[in-house]
Amino acid sequence: MIKIKPQTRDDIKYRVKWLNDPTVNKYIGDTIGQCTTLKKQEKWFDDYKKVKGKKFFTIYDNDKPIGWMGLSNINIANKNADIFLAIGEDEYRGKGYGKIALLWLIDYAFKKLNLHKINLGVIENNIFAIKLYKSVGFEVEGKMKDEVWHDGIYYNFLSMALFNNE
Ligand SMILES: CC(C)(COP(=O)(O)OP(=O)(O)OC[C@H]1O[C@@H](n2cnc3c(N)ncnc32)[C@H](O)[C@@H]1OP(=O)(O)O)[C@@H](O)C(=O)NCCC(=O)NCCS
Repeated sequence: MIKIKPQTRDDIKYRVKWLNDPTVNKYIGDTIGQCTTLKKQEKWFDDYKKVKGKKFFTIYDNDKPIGWMGLSNINIANKNADIFLAIGEDEYRGKGYGKIALLWLIDYAFKKLNLHKINLGVIENNIFAIKLYKSVGFEVEGKMKDEVWHDGIYYNFLSMALFNNE
């Protein structure tokens, strides 16, 4: 059964493991293909605790952490935020966990934080992620050509958005 809990200091080791998995980090826009360290992620967590515009969560299958997701750049005045999602454990991808977690986070953003719009950025070759985002209502708002360079290839980067139309 899927569970979602606020990210804690104990979860940093999982972030390190998942961010160092090439299947995951080849799609993570701001640090594409780059590895990380425990020290860097501890700093990330310390910074995260100090700011107000971020809310990150760990996704569990029962008691096993399987991924993480969050909102950043939460802008209360404009009522928008950026969303991020990753299933870090290989054997849990493509089994519906991402969709359940994403729907939970959208509900949290719209109902609990009362946001009007959720934005995300995704590399154009991440077809499963784009399929997932479209399936819950995200639409492409813009395309940045050759925005990401990885392993000798330039990739386009898509901006997608979902509105709270309820
Ligand atoms: C993208 C990601 C979050 C999707 O989560 P997930 O749990 O794997 O996806 P789901 O099982 O909920 O499936 C979402 C859709 O994509 C399809 N899909 C996902 N993985 C698939 C795979 N390996 N093969 C075929 N289809 C797949 C599913 O069929 C589903 O479509 P449907 O609703 O029409 O059936 C996850 O694969 C992931 O973390 N990938 C690596 C990191 C990443 O890309 N993060 C996003 C950064 S923008």
